[in-house]
Amino acid sequence: MRDLFIGLMSGTSLDGVDAVLARFDPQGGIAVQGHVHRPFPDALRADLLALNRPGADELHRAALASNGVAEAYAQAVAALLAATGATADQIAAVGAHGQTVRHRPGEFDGTGYTVQLLNGALLAERCGIDVVADLRSRDVAAGGQGAPLVPAFHAALFGQPGMAQAVLNWGGIGNLTLLGADGAVSGFDCGPGNVLLDLWCERHRRTPFDAGGAWAAQGRVDAALLATLLDEPFLHRAPPKSTGRDLFHAEWLDARLAAFDALTPVDVQATLAEFTVRAATDALLRHLPSPTRLLVCGGGALNDHLMARLAAQLPGTAVQSTASAGLPPLQVEAAAFAWLAWAFTQRRPGNRPAVTGAAGPRVLGCLHPAR
Ligand SMILES: Nc1ncnc2c1ncn2[C@@H]1O[C@H](COP(=O)(O)OP(=O)(O)O)[C@@H](O)[C@H]1O
Ligand SMILES: [Mg+2]
Repeated sequence: MRDLFIGLMSGTSLDGVDAVLARFDPQGGIAVQGHVHRPFPDALRADLLALNRPGADELHRAALASNGVAEAYAQAVAALLAATGATADQIAAVGAHGQTVRHRPGEFDGTGYTVQLLNGALLAERCGIDVVADLRSRDVAAGGQGAPLVPAFHAALFGQPGMAQAVLNWGGIGNLTLLGADGAVSGFDCGPGNVLLDLWCERHRRTPFDAGGAWAAQGRVDAALLATLLDEPFLHRAPPKSTGRDLFHAEWLDARLAAFDALTPVDVQATLAEFTVRAATDALLRHLPSPTRLLVCGGGALNDHLMARLAAQLPGTAVQSTASAGLPPLQVEAAAFAWLAWAFTQRRPGNRPAVTGAAGPRVLGCLHPAR
């Protein structure tokens, strides 16, 4: 039985693909063997960003973007195999997330949908490895949010009996996993992660993100703007809940900034950073009042300013990167999708109904066989 799996993750921040090679033992215990990150080509990134909002000829554009994502994923797999010395025939399956461009579970007809663009057939064709894709739709079909899917993996990886702790996955969007001292696992999307910070930085600094949060750290938080941002109803809704660029987009931000046009860009960035932190900490303290530890993964863990503000908001809690618990922050979510591929091959459920709100545990994903 082959025990090597690849996880491929490209999140809402649209920074590119993280690919992780991992070995699983029969209980699902993980040993990560390697990681590569490949940025998306600029044109693909722009196409994907545009597809997050309604526009003309979407079916055609989405189909071509799905091919583009598959090609980018295939290149990440090739780079990962080259970096680790593994070969395609050693890999049991690839768990491939795809690129979310719409996320509307439970809406419209009551079922709604979630769309992760990826031509799984093309990825299987390019790699010659079994591809498990479309990992969220089954949970949505069962009445769930289809997100977040990482809490079960976080629990398996970081859970410690008797310790109340949380994991904050700070990608484009933020999601929290709550691990109770009694072993209870819950989780939900808590609001924006880096998405607004990236957007503002791109607009005013022409760089894709604020490295280390150095720019935000120079600004002054505006209390009135912060209060306006914190008014967002999504933050106050009870879980299960999930969100994406469907809500936190440029128009959302510009509508809220309209009354604050006297603020300098750097003060807006500082305020957006504080908003991003408070969206996470307010939710955390509401649901798990005194966690011993908060582990942070995703690119937000590399933002020193965000991490410092997080620690300042949580005086009794040890705020640490997941690197301190054995897995570097950019590898965690990709490793979770390798784990979901492993779970699929075992026909084990990948969702947690208590997290997503699905009617029950479900095997997630659909298979594009290697041959
Ligand atoms: N050195 C850094 N300093 C500040 N922010 C960073 C740094 N590295 C990555 N990031 C942030 O992390 C984001 C990517 O995080 P990631 O976890 O990959 O998100 P997603 O899953 O949405 O793609 C980038 O868009 C950027 O905002
Ligand atoms: Mg990413």
